[in-house]
Amino acid sequence: MLICRTERPGDGEEIDELVCAAYGHERTADLIWSLREQGDITISQVAEYEGAIMGHLLMSPALINGEDIGWLSLNPISVWPECQHQGIASTMLREALNSANELDWAGVLVQGELAFFARFGFKLASELGFSAPATELPLLALAFKPLSFRVSAEISMPR
Ligand SMILES: CC(C)(COP(=O)(O)OP(=O)(O)OC[C@H]1O[C@@H](n2cnc3c(N)ncnc32)[C@H](O)[C@@H]1OP(=O)(O)O)[C@@H](O)C(=O)NCCC(=O)NCCS
Repeated sequence: MLICRTERPGDGEEIDELVCAAYGHERTADLIWSLREQGDITISQVAEYEGAIMGHLLMSPALINGEDIGWLSLNPISVWPECQHQGIASTMLREALNSANELDWAGVLVQGELAFFARFGFKLASELGFSAPATELPLLALAFKPLSFRVSAEISMPR
């Protein structure tokens, strides 16, 4: 059975290997180590099957106009290449989004493919009032609480 659980001390090396395999480089795994060191991780969740970590996702506070206004940044999300297309990322993401909502965060931002993230309720962030510089992948947002203002300045997300 696939179990989604919070990262535990000692999971770091296994997560590192998984993230390097999924992304094909070490930069993203290095980001996770630095966020851990800085204590900037809000949600770090793994998907475990028979004791092995198959997937991982991380959420940390997004800075909007340099301020933490209660939004999380989802980055990264990874599944072992040979375990992809089995719903592992979807399962982890649904659990993590529920946790973020229950923890009273205002919403989640991610730079990613709308085709994948739309099924969880993400929209183009511009539709919700965010305005961010154009990037290779669009900025997407899922709001748990309505945005009561237009955010038209710099959004800084750990990447
Ligand atoms: C993206 C990723 C986490 C998805 O993991 P997964 O466990 O395969 O996802 P799920 O099985 O829950 O969902 C798979 C579905 O998502 C969609 N999907 C996955 N990646 C996609 C992408 N890059 N663009 C569009 N749709 C995508 C497909 O519709 C796929 O359906 P299929 O299995 O019928 O082809 C995984 O492919 C991965 O680790 N990729 C490398 C790291 C990465 O790019 N992370 C995302 C950065 S935003």
